Amino acid sequence: MLPNLELAQWVTPLNAVGFIAVYIALKLINALYLSPLRHIPGPLFAKSSGLYTFYMDMAGCRAKTIASVHQKYGPVVQIGPSEVCFDTMDAIDAIYGPQSECIKAKWYDSVTRDGVFKIRNIADHRHRRKQISRGFSPATANELEPSTVSLVQKFIGIIEEQRQKGAMEMRHWFRMLVFDLAGVAFVGESNGALQSEKIPQFVLDMDNAFLIWDLEGRFPLLMWFIERLPIKSLQHFLNGTNRLYDYSTAAFEKYIGLYGRNPDRKDIVSKLVQKPTTGVEGLSDDLIKCEIANLTFAATDTTSVVLSYLFWELALNPELQSQLRAELQSPSEAPDSGVPAHQSLVKLPLLNAIIQETMRKHSPIAMGLLRETPPSGSNIGDYFIPGETVVSMSTMLAHKNPTHFPDPNSFKPSRWMSDKSDPASPDSEASGGTEAMKKLYMPFGKGRHKCAGQAMALVTMRIIVAALVLKYGVRLAKDAKVEDMDWDDHFLIILKRGCFLDFTPV
Ligand code: HEM
Repeated sequence: MLPNLELAQWVTPLNAVGFIAVYIALKLINALYLSPLRHIPGPLFAKSSGLYTFYMDMAGCRAKTIASVHQKYGPVVQIGPSEVCFDTMDAIDAIYGPQSECIKAKWYDSVTRDGVFKIRNIADHRHRRKQISRGFSPATANELEPSTVSLVQKFIGIIEEQRQKGAMEMRHWFRMLVFDLAGVAFVGESNGALQSEKIPQFVLDMDNAFLIWDLEGRFPLLMWFIERLPIKSLQHFLNGTNRLYDYSTAAFEKYIGLYGRNPDRKDIVSKLVQKPTTGVEGLSDDLIKCEIANLTFAATDTTSVVLSYLFWELALNPELQSQLRAELQSPSEAPDSGVPAHQSLVKLPLLNAIIQETMRKHSPIAMGLLRETPPSGSNIGDYFIPGETVVSMSTMLAHKNPTHFPDPNSFKPSRWMSDKSDPASPDSEASGGTEAMKKLYMPFGKGRHKCAGQAMALVTMRIIVAALVLKYGVRLAKDAKVEDMDWDDHFLIILKRGCFLDFTPV
C-alpha cells in the first residue's frame, strides 16, 4: 500500500530549492554536452536558458547585446537554447536569400494582426504578396507624389512657425509628417497629426506595440489574466495593440462611405478593394483593415527615424549640406511649390547616397530579422543548423562590416559613389558600391519578405530631404547631445531622447 502522503508535505522550501537546482543542472548538462548546438560558442547562460533573450527583448537591447556577444565569442554565436546569430557574409543568402529554405520565425505569429508581415508559410505569403501587389508598384508610389508635395508644403509652414520658438524635436515632427502621409497614401486623407496639439493615440500606441505582442506571444495565459485585471491604466496600456486596428477599421469604413470602391482613385485602399490583376482573388474587407493598420505602422516609424538621423548627420556636416544643396539646385530651380519634382531627384548621386548611407549607419531595424530553419535543418555557412532553430544576421553588424565599409562608424555617402557606381533607380536596393556592399546592405530586408513599401519610402524621403535642404540650413540645437540619438530596440529602434535641431532659411 502507498503511504498516504499529502502533496503539501512535499512542497517544502528545501525541496523547492532542490528541484530548482536539479532543473538548472539538467539545463546546463544539455547545453554543454547534449544539445546539437553545443559546439557553437556563446554565453553559457544564453545557451541554457531562454531568460537571456527574454531579458534583452524586454529591456530593448537585443541588437546591442548581440553585437557584444559577437565581439566576445566570434562571428557565429548561440544566444538562446535554440537560437543562433551569424555575422558572416555567407549566412545572408542562406537565411534571407530568395531561395532560402528558412521561414519567418514563430515570433511573427504573435506580432501584428493578419497582414502580409506575419505570414510565415512560403506559399501563403507569396499568395498575399500577389493580392496586395497593385498597391505597391513604383508607379503607385509615383502617383502619390502630388499629395506628398502638398503635405511637405504644409510641413514647411509648420517649421516656419515652430522654428521661431527655438529648437525643434525633429523625430516628433517627422513622425507626424509621415503619419499624415500614410493617411493620404492609404486611406486618401491626412491623419491631421501635423495640425494637432496632441500626439495621436495611434502614434503613442506604436511605441509599445512590439513589447506587448512579445509578452502575449511568450506568456499567453498570464497575459490573458493580466489584461483582465481591473486596473484602468494597465488595461489602457495593453489595449494599445487593439486600438491600432480600431483606427484602421474606422478609417476604412469612412473611406468606403465617402468614395465607395472607386478604381480611379490613387490611394492604396482603392487598389486593394479592386480585384488584383495577378490572377488571385482580392482581399476581404477585414484583411484590408488589418493591412492598413500594419502598413501605417510599417511606414511611419521607419521613415521618420531615417529622416531624423539623416538631418542629424547633415547638421553635423555643414560642408555636406552645401554640396547637397548645390546638387539640388543644379538641374533646375525648385518649382513654385518649393518642392522639387521627384523625377528630377531620382538620379541625383549625392542625394541618393546620403539616404543610403543614413540607412546603412542607422538602420531603423538594427537587429537581425528572425528566421527559422526547416524541420530537416539547414547548412548555414560552415555549420549545419538543426531544424526549427531560430537564425538571424544582425543588420547593424552587416552594415558595419569593417572590411567592406571601412571606418564604418563614419558617415560617408561617398562610399556609395565610386566611379563604378550603378545609376540610382526609384526602387533600387542599393545603388553604387561594390557587390559585397550591396549584399551586406539590407535596411529593407531581403528576399521573399523584402519591404513592400520600399519604393514609396524612397520617393517620400527624396522629396522631403530635397525640399527642406533647398530651403533651410540645419544645425544641432544648442543643448543637443550625441546621447540624445541613442536608442532602444523593440524590433524598430526608438530614440531615447530625440533629435533636437535648428532650422534657418538659406
Ligand atoms: C525607410 C523606410 C522603411 C524601412 C527601412 C523598412 C524596412 C522593412 C524591413 C526590414 C522589412 C522586413 C521585415 C521582416 O522581414 O521582418 C519590411 C517589411 C515590410 N514593409 Fe517596410 N520599411 C520601410 C517603409 C515601409 C513603407 C513606407 C511601407 C508601406 C507603404 C512598408 C511596408 C512593409 C510591408 C508590407 C512589409 C512586409 C513585407 C513582407 O513580409 O512580405 N515599409 N520593411
